Amino acid sequence: MFVESLKCGFNVAEVVKTFGIFVIDSKLLTSSATGKLSHDKALAMQSTKTMTFKKKLIRKFCAGLGMLSLLIAAGCRPSTGLEFPANEVELLKLQRHKYGPNEELDSKYKDQVAGVMAALFGTPDEPAFPFPANDASPFRALVSLGNLNASAGPVASVKDGKENLGLYRKHCANCHGLAGDGAGPVALTLNPYPRDFRLGKFKFKSTPLRVPPTDEDLVRVIRHGIPGTGMPAFPNMPPDEMEAIVDYVKYLAIRGEVERRLWDEVTSLAGEPLAGIPGSLDTAQTREAFRKVLVSDPTSPISDILFDDVLPRWVERDARVSAVPTAPAGVEPNDAEFNSLAGVGKELFLGKANCIQCHELPGHSATQAVNYDDWTNDWVKTPGIDVEDKRTFREFLKAGALPPRLLRPRNLTLPVYRGGDESRDLYLRIKNGIEGTPMPSSVSLNDEEIWALVAFVRSMPLK
Ligand code: HEC
Ligand code: HEC
Repeated sequence: MFVESLKCGFNVAEVVKTFGIFVIDSKLLTSSATGKLSHDKALAMQSTKTMTFKKKLIRKFCAGLGMLSLLIAAGCRPSTGLEFPANEVELLKLQRHKYGPNEELDSKYKDQVAGVMAALFGTPDEPAFPFPANDASPFRALVSLGNLNASAGPVASVKDGKENLGLYRKHCANCHGLAGDGAGPVALTLNPYPRDFRLGKFKFKSTPLRVPPTDEDLVRVIRHGIPGTGMPAFPNMPPDEMEAIVDYVKYLAIRGEVERRLWDEVTSLAGEPLAGIPGSLDTAQTREAFRKVLVSDPTSPISDILFDDVLPRWVERDARVSAVPTAPAGVEPNDAEFNSLAGVGKELFLGKANCIQCHELPGHSATQAVNYDDWTNDWVKTPGIDVEDKRTFREFLKAGALPPRLLRPRNLTLPVYRGGDESRDLYLRIKNGIEGTPMPSSVSLNDEEIWALVAFVRSMPLK
């Protein structure tokens, strides 16, 4: 049975063990950089990287690579601090999918993507956002730079005379990783793994599939945590810090989505330069100036990715919230009609709604094999990676992927609801499904049927 699903994924002994590893494992260090030790080390490692980069840069300039070199210079200026680690798993996936087993993307593209990403989104210490030039644009209200600054940076430092709180590294990066890749130093000890924000998918929200969560949804998850998982609750976080951290989650998600699309774009180019990168930049130009040029050319693929694809989804979310109708009598366990409504729900569960396909009941086994979630399927199944092929598999782990773990459908005889236990929460889960997981939305069920299923779900742990 599914006893393990009740266990909280957080195991103190494992965490201590991992922190031991954390000190010696340089790969984990770059992906997380939370405490003072990790931050300094990561910084040192980063500066080694920057050094090799500078050498490359000089060589490319000498070779007179023209426009491309200028771009690299503008995008990857010598940095004093941390850079976000690239999404190597995504890149490896695309290379294996599009090119075959041994071919690699030309390094000029890697530099180009790094340059564009740094210009658009800044660094973990100095975040930026690709706000469009037009002040009236709805994209301007998505995040505030003040909030990003309060969340970014090392913990509780004082920078430029202002207090920089480093909220994300203080509260979240241990699990969610510096770039929001879900692979922080304690990630391996948790099941499910901490969320990788870079896919832009969220599970427990009031919006339908493929629509990002509202700010209120994110506040709720952070304030209450996710019961039965390692995601802790932050009940006492002051409202201004909560607002700042919510903006930072959106920032990491948007940044991650844009990076994925850029990798997709450049892995489809056969040698030609990434279109829409202006050639008028010179080495003196800052990331800020480069960003302004990138966001102001409406014909560039970067503008398409930002303003026609990723950002509109985030802007439309408030208008896409699913209305929850008033619950009928019988949904709450102390309603007189509870048992009869739950009985109707049970019939649907075993019949028309076919929940039994995944969720077994005492006396009824599930019919469908347990599957991975989208965060694993994204690099395992979608591109046809064979996890049995040890060489390929090892390559992915080296690039930063976490070992695949199956996602079990919830054992509904236990009263643990990750997305909240109010009738409204269960209605939304059953109506909209759970994004990124096999749990489907219920398109063929009407409201009455969904409420009956809510009553039945609630009745199960009471038996
Ligand atoms: C101890 C580890 C840990 C810490 C610390 C942590 N999280 Fe999480 N977080 C998780 C895990 C594990 C999940 C995945 C739960 C799941 O998939 O059901 C998660 C999921 C999430 C989600 C996804 C919610 C959804 O609806 O899909 C958000 C957003 C989130 N965390 C934000 C944060 C923020 C912001 C912080 C810091 C204030 C934070 N987390 C700190 C472990 C952690
Ligand atoms: C194809 C498989 C599948 C089907 C069909 C399915 N579920 Fe699920 N369900 C899942 C998985 C997987 C999860 C765990 C998702 C997670 O939390 O990551 C889940 C989670 C849940 C949860 C827990 C929500 C929470 O907040 O923790 C409820 C309740 C639930 N399902 C009810 C139902 C009902 C009712 C039906 C039928 C209408 C149904 N499921 C059909 C796979 C399925």
